[in-house]
Amino acid sequence: MAYSKKFPFLIPFLLFMLHLHESTAQIKGGYWFSASGLPASSINSTLFTHLFCAFANLDPNTNKVTISSSNAAQFSSFTQTVQQKNPSVKTLLSIGGGASNPSTFSAMASQSSSRKSFIDSSIQQARSNNFHGVDLDWEYPSSSSDMQNLGQLAREFRTSLINEGRNSGKPPLLLTAAFFHSSNYYSLDYPAKAINESFDFINVMAYDFHGPNWFPNRTAPPAGLYFQRNSGVYQVGGDQGIRSWIGAGVAAQKLALGIPYYGYAWRLVNANNNGLYAPATGSAFGGDGSMGYNQIRAFVSQNRARCVYNSTVVTDYCYAGTTWIGYDDVQSVTAKVNYCKRNGLGYFVWHVGADDNWVLSQTAYRTMG
Ligand SMILES: *[C@@H]1O[C@H](CO)[C@@H](O)[C@H](O)[C@H]1NC(C)=O
Ligand SMILES: *[C@@H]1O[C@H](CO)[C@@H](O)[C@H](O)[C@H]1NC(C)=O
Ligand SMILES: *[C@@H]1O[C@H](CO)[C@@H](O)[C@H](O)[C@H]1NC(C)=O
Ligand SMILES: *[C@@H]1O[C@H](CO)[C@@H](O)[C@H](O)[C@H]1NC(C)=O
Repeated sequence: MAYSKKFPFLIPFLLFMLHLHESTAQIKGGYWFSASGLPASSINSTLFTHLFCAFANLDPNTNKVTISSSNAAQFSSFTQTVQQKNPSVKTLLSIGGGASNPSTFSAMASQSSSRKSFIDSSIQQARSNNFHGVDLDWEYPSSSSDMQNLGQLAREFRTSLINEGRNSGKPPLLLTAAFFHSSNYYSLDYPAKAINESFDFINVMAYDFHGPNWFPNRTAPPAGLYFQRNSGVYQVGGDQGIRSWIGAGVAAQKLALGIPYYGYAWRLVNANNNGLYAPATGSAFGGDGSMGYNQIRAFVSQNRARCVYNSTVVTDYCYAGTTWIGYDDVQSVTAKVNYCKRNGLGYFVWHVGADDNWVLSQTAYRTMG
């Protein structure tokens, strides 16, 4: 090869560039929630770089990670199933989640011996079920000792993964986590340095900012990227959270912005006052008012609801009669993924089973390019 004679540095340089390109390829993550009822074989895995299989459990007595018997078969075939359509998709076993007990994680993380049980059993479950990694969903560490112990757990986890990779001769397992939208959890700082050094990337849960059960009196964007000043509601947005994580020292390419495939429905006081921050009286349908994107689309077509995109805060909303639903549709997802592109971030979605014919996943995938 003429080039290698003339420019012997060129090939290593090109290989380096290739590697660099590979390691900065933007994350397109998606959670698959077994309770959604969507079979893993129906996931259009071509639209994702990483799929999270949710959830494995933390046993409070043994501090070991377990998979319920009802999930065992689906979890153990998950990787093989989703790789049929996309052989390069990476899969991670997600542990914990919003319905798990945070004090179980807190107790586990507080002692070196229980951390070891957790780490060793995570690795064992991930390997024996053919996952490429482990995803920690402790929602949420909520004391300063929890935060300190999370940092310790993260460092020990990374060390164990390196050692296990070396001993097994396999590529080391990936390590990710789902964290609060901000690096500061109600005035407690996450251990950002340990997080940046120990996790391959983190999923920033930039949603659930407003919902009818905790902000009943006004409609509001559940997952706005920006906030509107003097709106009369709590001022919070995804961009603010991402900037806090970067400011705390987590590299942008290690952050994935969370995009919810669900919204919240409020009951309006007056059907004719139907914008953002309009007077409301709590949840439209009881419960917490949450609705999957596919349910929202069905509501829109059945009720001929009006849909509005607000680019100031980046949210969609729709209304029919006195029902008002804030959520992310094609325009919000496009704007959020463009934001990720501009800032060198990845994204992830919760959860793929709530998409409507892959409309949002296709939108996100094509926007990221
Ligand atoms: C999955 O996504 C790919 C890429 O956008 C698309 O070509 C394909 O038609 C989709 N398959 C299904 C079943 O939606
Ligand atoms: C909502 O309005 C009710 C009735 O006016 C009031 O008692 C309550 O404090 C308000 N809640 C919030 C979160 O502002
Ligand atoms: C965070 O991690 C990245 C990539 O591993 C590294 O380049 C960067 O220096 C780290 N940032 C800090 C503040 O430690
Ligand atoms: C978004 O909603 C806010 C509050 O109603 C409004 O002030 C703003 O002008 C809207 N933005 C757009 C682009 O319509």
